[in-house]
Amino acid sequence: MSLLSKLIIATGNFGKYKEFEQIINHTADNNFTHEIIFAPDKAKLIVEESGKSYAENAMLKARAWTEKTGLPCLSDDSGLEVEALNGAPGLYSARIIKGTDRDKAEWLLSELDGYENRKARFSAALCLCVPDEYTLVTEGYCYGTIAESQRGFDGFGYDPVFIPDGYTMTFAELGSEIKNNISHRANAFRKICRLLSVNVNIKA
Ligand code: IMP
Repeated sequence: MSLLSKLIIATGNFGKYKEFEQIINHTADNNFTHEIIFAPDKAKLIVEESGKSYAENAMLKARAWTEKTGLPCLSDDSGLEVEALNGAPGLYSARIIKGTDRDKAEWLLSELDGYENRKARFSAALCLCVPDEYTLVTEGYCYGTIAESQRGFDGFGYDPVFIPDGYTMTFAELGSEIKNNISHRANAFRKICRLLSVNVNIKA
């Protein structure tokens, strides 16, 4: 028996939607939701990310999609925080420079040129909004280091330059099965499951 009958993944990014689908299916089997829906298949909506934190932005997105669809919505807001750059690009990870994901990863490598400290973490805030019932926000992290060059082709964003702790390959080389078990989003989703007392598969 699932907790929810339908769940909208409140994102316009199909790559993120596929990650959530894998995270939800792997983490909670069929206990969480009966049906997972990509938001743009249901309605048209652009939400301005005007919050001052990942949590605020995640709430803005989930609430807007819930209002629009009347259905339970799960959103996230996330970013990469690099220690030597005082936490940059952080909240601005998606818009730090104009260009493709590979351009942004290249920007990061050039910013870190000459730095020995390559420690970084991915952060994600997830917001689950169930109309007329509750709004839940959790945060999850994934710690690692920034590689010397881009490696691998899986995933999106900074995946080709992020090596999670305990591995020697980047997220883009490791592939979705490993990433979606240990990622910031997966860790934040496990916290939602724990808060709602949904049984989870413990794989990480
Ligand atoms: P958002 O869509 O506003 O949450 O933007 C998050 C941005 O942070 C993305 O566009 C990526 O640049 C970066 N980011 C967040 N999570 C990940 C990830 O799992 N892999 C690679 N980059 C990520």
